[in-house]
Amino acid sequence: MDKRPIGVMDSGLGGLSVLRVLRDELPQESLTFVGDQGHFPYGTKSQATIRQLSLAIGRFLVKHEAKLMVIACNTATGAALPTLQKELPIPVIGVIKPGAAAALANPVDTVGVIGTVSTIKNGAYVKALHELQPGVTVVSQPAQALVSIVEHGQTGTSAAQTAVNQALAVFDTRPVQVLILGCTHFPFLSAEIRQKMGPDVRLVDPAFETVQEVKKLLTTQQLAAPIDNPDRRIALYSTGQQADLKRGADQWLAGQYDSCQQIDLIEE
Ligand code: DGL
Repeated sequence: MDKRPIGVMDSGLGGLSVLRVLRDELPQESLTFVGDQGHFPYGTKSQATIRQLSLAIGRFLVKHEAKLMVIACNTATGAALPTLQKELPIPVIGVIKPGAAAALANPVDTVGVIGTVSTIKNGAYVKALHELQPGVTVVSQPAQALVSIVEHGQTGTSAAQTAVNQALAVFDTRPVQVLILGCTHFPFLSAEIRQKMGPDVRLVDPAFETVQEVKKLLTTQQLAAPIDNPDRRIALYSTGQQADLKRGADQWLAGQYDSCQQIDLIEE
């Protein structure tokens, strides 16, 4: 049994969409989350910069005794997963392969992917989908503007719906059966995305399949915490303004966390 925390990272609030599934599905596990809001957004940065930032967070999590790391960020997964797996002394899981697998879990010919500029340019989803099903048609669409809407607390507004309608207009002429929410900020806009895409398109939040991967790893590597772990703790850190992460966590985690602090990774 291993009571050390699972480390989780994102560029900002999006990672909370993965953290909430980890919290619900693994109630005995401690979770340590870093939102790199001091460097938000990742989606418009170079692959090298994203790798460097992700590695700094990975090292912070290792120093804070994480037993495994979940990159709760598609952009960082696309740019940095192999680097982190090589450089860190703990197992590292990303969200892209699980997201692709979840999209293809039922028979499907046409898959849409929305993500940051970096994720779409990087082509990691297209690659993962084609590895699993070579003939599948993939319609990829960058939707960077939607990231800021979530980060700045504007979900549920008419401006959010307008932005979603604009960003997803490509699917009017190129319809898809499944849409991967390929940015961890986007599940927080699922009402607006559902409204735009209609009831027949299956929306895939990669968080659920990612957490299944985490569960498997905890079992195979004997890293699971004891059931009813009395020391279970959810600790949140922001490299930006603590108040911004706290606002997001109060909303998206319904206030269910133990601490929320600001950190400066340079001084760590
Ligand atoms: N939430 C992130 C993702 O899953 C990145 C958003 C950003 O910082 O641009 O890609």
